[in-house]
Amino acid sequence: MKSFLPVLCLLAASATAAPRADIRDVPVTREGSTLLLDGKPWKAVGANVYWLGLDENVTPASGEPYYAPLKASYPTKGRTTEIMAVVKAMGGTAIRAHTLGVSTGNPLSLVPAPGQVNKQAFEPIDWAVWQAREYGLRLLIPLTDNFDYYHGGKYNFLRWAGFNLTQTKDSTNPLVMQFYTNETIVGAFKDYIRTLITHVNPYTNLSYADDPTIFAYETGNELCGPVWGDMNVPARWVREIGGFVKQLAPKKLIVDGTYGVNKTHLSVEEVDIFSDHYYPVSIGKLRADVDLVNSVNKTYFAGEYTWVKSAPAATDADLASWFKVLEQSPAVIGDALWSLFGHNVPDCKTFVEHSDGLTLQYVNPAHATQIQLIRQHFMKASQELSIAANAPLPQVPCPASTSGTETGTRRNR
Ligand SMILES: *[C@@H]1O[C@H](CO)[C@@H](O)[C@H](O)[C@H]1NC(C)=O
Ligand SMILES: *[C@@H]1O[C@H](CO)[C@@H](O)[C@H](O)[C@H]1NC(C)=O
Ligand SMILES: *[C@@H]1O[C@H](CO)[C@@H](O)[C@H](O)[C@H]1NC(C)=O
Ligand SMILES: *[C@@H]1O[C@H](CO)[C@@H](O)[C@H](O)[C@H]1NC(C)=O
Ligand SMILES: *[C@@H]1O[C@H](CO)[C@@H](O)[C@H](O)[C@H]1NC(C)=O
Repeated sequence: MKSFLPVLCLLAASATAAPRADIRDVPVTREGSTLLLDGKPWKAVGANVYWLGLDENVTPASGEPYYAPLKASYPTKGRTTEIMAVVKAMGGTAIRAHTLGVSTGNPLSLVPAPGQVNKQAFEPIDWAVWQAREYGLRLLIPLTDNFDYYHGGKYNFLRWAGFNLTQTKDSTNPLVMQFYTNETIVGAFKDYIRTLITHVNPYTNLSYADDPTIFAYETGNELCGPVWGDMNVPARWVREIGGFVKQLAPKKLIVDGTYGVNKTHLSVEEVDIFSDHYYPVSIGKLRADVDLVNSVNKTYFAGEYTWVKSAPAATDADLASWFKVLEQSPAVIGDALWSLFGHNVPDCKTFVEHSDGLTLQYVNPAHATQIQLIRQHFMKASQELSIAANAPLPQVPCPASTSGTETGTRRNR
């Protein structure tokens, strides 16, 4: 918040002029290589929080839905709210959230099997979208996954169409391309997308298609063909899926979910944002990706990067220079670290831990150095504010308030 005086002027002006629209109802738009919110450049900085629709890291209270073979359960409302408060306190503006879009193939999924819709699965998704809105955050949501994880992905659509494939046995089988090329499967994926994004959220009475809180849908997470890293996703499929989402939701931005920037996709008009992932962080790879995207006047998002010091070649200094390059590249419209967790709310004493070694927890003393660096970066990118390296971290109460931290039209500033 800058100074008190402009607020007073705004209030005085609004007494005579028409009330100013709630910033949360204003969609993010793209102009060339920039994203705009309310006429001003806007950056989507924040974290991956993949577990908001369905988690795999917590055994729920007895009587709560649980699918033991995949350890799948719905997160508590308090966990979701706390993570929104954390991202906001860190100066973030956005969250990338797999399970708000990827939810297929197990009994707790949105679509457990072809033709079935499990309404219960919408509840945590609705809550997360609403809580993001309350905290003035925006969401970027992948629509499927390249892998066979607990939350589902492209293998569900392949198996449902009679291709008996699994990631463990068949990731190099050329038949995986049927996900992109087989009309029946592409049709089933579109039906899934329609079921998801035309759903009306009872907390807002807005469909996901209409709610500007979701600023972008991504065609998928880390999509490839039969060779790891081959970027073999037909441009035709990207165009078809992007076009389909825009037909249902004309104001959404589309992220190409191919793992890496595929040159043959640069001319796909439906794509607004290209993206890549970094394990470890690599400034060279980032520069090459951004140059490609710059050449066609579109935008770039670093969709995942490891924040962990001990990961190969990723030191704190590397993280600082990584952030600097992101901040100084005009076509970079944001980034999302991998990956953020909070307390096991309502238990506010225990953190939730994921098994990949990349779990970041706000106020965990072991992560303090990186949290400071990350917060400096978020503040710089989102508000052009320089924060001292040892600035005290804002407290986030646990459980957090469900109604955000600020009020009125200035909530998103
Ligand atoms: C990029 O797009 C913007 C907005 O559409 C436009 O004003 C600008 O001229 C474009 N730049 C190039 C180099 O094409
Ligand atoms: C597409 O998948 C269906 C099964 O759902 C199969 O019958 C059909 O042969 C496949 N098409 C092609 C071109 O492989
Ligand atoms: C799918 O393949 C597995 C072995 O890979 C086999 O055990 C299973 O019976 C197959 N399912 C169908 C429906 O063919
Ligand atoms: C949504 O619409 C219903 C029916 O018109 C209404 O009762 C409810 O209060 C509305 N909820 C919100 C959040 O606007
Ligand atoms: C890029 O996508 C095309 C299809 O549009 C595919 O043929 C090619 O293998 C992909 N990979 C690379 C590195 O271009």
